[in-house]
Amino acid sequence: MGLSIQTLKDTLDSLLPKSRFEHSLRVADMAVVLASLNNISTEKAYLAGLIHDTAKPMSPQTLLSDYSVQIKDPLETVFSEYKAVWHALVAPQVVSTLFQINDEAVLDAIQWHTTGKADMAFLTKVIFVADFVEPGRNTDISRAMEIIAKSNIDRACFEISEFSIQKLNKKNNKIHPLTIDCYNHYRSFAKK
Ligand SMILES: [Fe+2]
Ligand SMILES: [Fe+2]
Repeated sequence: MGLSIQTLKDTLDSLLPKSRFEHSLRVADMAVVLASLNNISTEKAYLAGLIHDTAKPMSPQTLLSDYSVQIKDPLETVFSEYKAVWHALVAPQVVSTLFQINDEAVLDAIQWHTTGKADMAFLTKVIFVADFVEPGRNTDISRAMEIIAKSNIDRACFEISEFSIQKLNKKNNKIHPLTIDCYNHYRSFAKK
């Protein structure tokens, strides 16, 4: 692993808007709580939470001009079709280039944090859920999900994907196929 946590924090503080940086710190803290409840590495959980939104303010154009990172199709198409999803799908390429982070579990977790997907690795579930339930998301649904997540993270994955699909439907937005896969996979964990 490349840079120290403090160096990563300082760099993200300069890269991200203040509110996004503070959200990242809260996701990292929540990821540690969920990781320890599920007996997985809290160090990896903190790291993944901290860096999950690194690409949020970026675009294919700024990545190329500012960091010489070339994003190729199909991810270029994702940027125009699913703007909210793009920063997650390109995150591994961005953090491996900018921060020399190459841990496969961490890269997987940040890649699927927005869409989720079927049959996620444990750390990937932790970041998917932590992003939704971090305490800055001050909504009833986030607080309810936090309680569920602490006792059954698979059920939280189902509820979060169901909520996302309903929200996107209401706004008449396109739903990424991976979000549908996530919903279908985790629906067996729904409250009976
Ligand atoms: Fe994100
Ligand atoms: Fe996030």
